[in-house]
Amino acid sequence: MHCAKSRRCAKTLGSVRMTNFHFLLNATMTQDELKQAVARAAIDYIVDGDIIGVGTGSTANFFIDELGKVKHRIKAAVASSEATAERLRGHGITVVDLNAVEAMAVYIDGADEITASGAMIKGGGAALTREKIVASVAQKFICIADGSKLVQVLGQFPLPVEVIPMARAVVARKLAALGGEARLRVRDGQPVLTDNGCEIIDVHGLRITDPRATESAINGIVGVVTVGLFAGRGADVALLGTADGVQTLVF
Ligand code: 5RP
Repeated sequence: MHCAKSRRCAKTLGSVRMTNFHFLLNATMTQDELKQAVARAAIDYIVDGDIIGVGTGSTANFFIDELGKVKHRIKAAVASSEATAERLRGHGITVVDLNAVEAMAVYIDGADEITASGAMIKGGGAALTREKIVASVAQKFICIADGSKLVQVLGQFPLPVEVIPMARAVVARKLAALGGEARLRVRDGQPVLTDNGCEIIDVHGLRITDPRATESAINGIVGVVTVGLFAGRGADVALLGTADGVQTLVF
């Protein structure tokens, strides 16, 4: 179901409850309401007394707002971006440095695209490197997204690649050789800088049929910090907000 962000979906089914759905939803929900529904559903996955990894983006923000309501249940959070850290602190949640954390049960984050086998494109919010690092420490990656993010083949969403600024041109040439169109991400005429002081190249027009192979190939380009393909370590669970409810996929 594809709904424009602020528009209501045309189809009206009324509220439904099905065994694999956590919440009553209805088909007139906006994309933001679907994101809120999955954010609420993700609260079921927090482990009492543990440290939790928290992603970045609008869906992650809804999750942080829900987490704020049950903050007494967690010890602290590790943030995948400065923006997330600020929002967590705004809710009175303790944010700890990843270097002080040896393990955590779950990492909860959104995605730009996800396949039915749990491979994802991430980095629309330019936080891909820290997201991948924090996720690597967690036992489970819980992906939360509205159902429009579920795709058969990754690549319609431009693939973000974080690069060292001095390598932007050489990396762009190598990415173009893979068959895509590499475009530097700019805002107000200036390159977008990540929290790590690096730049983002978005690769348009790829059709990623073997996400693991593409992830390895791009990670192997000198000058690349991180590619926004999460395939080698994809999601373990996806909570997808659809017109019929929150659908849970376990990989
Ligand atoms: C940020 C991300 C986000 O998870 C991704 O862009 C999805 O964002 P949103 O929840 O706003 O749709 O990878 O780097």
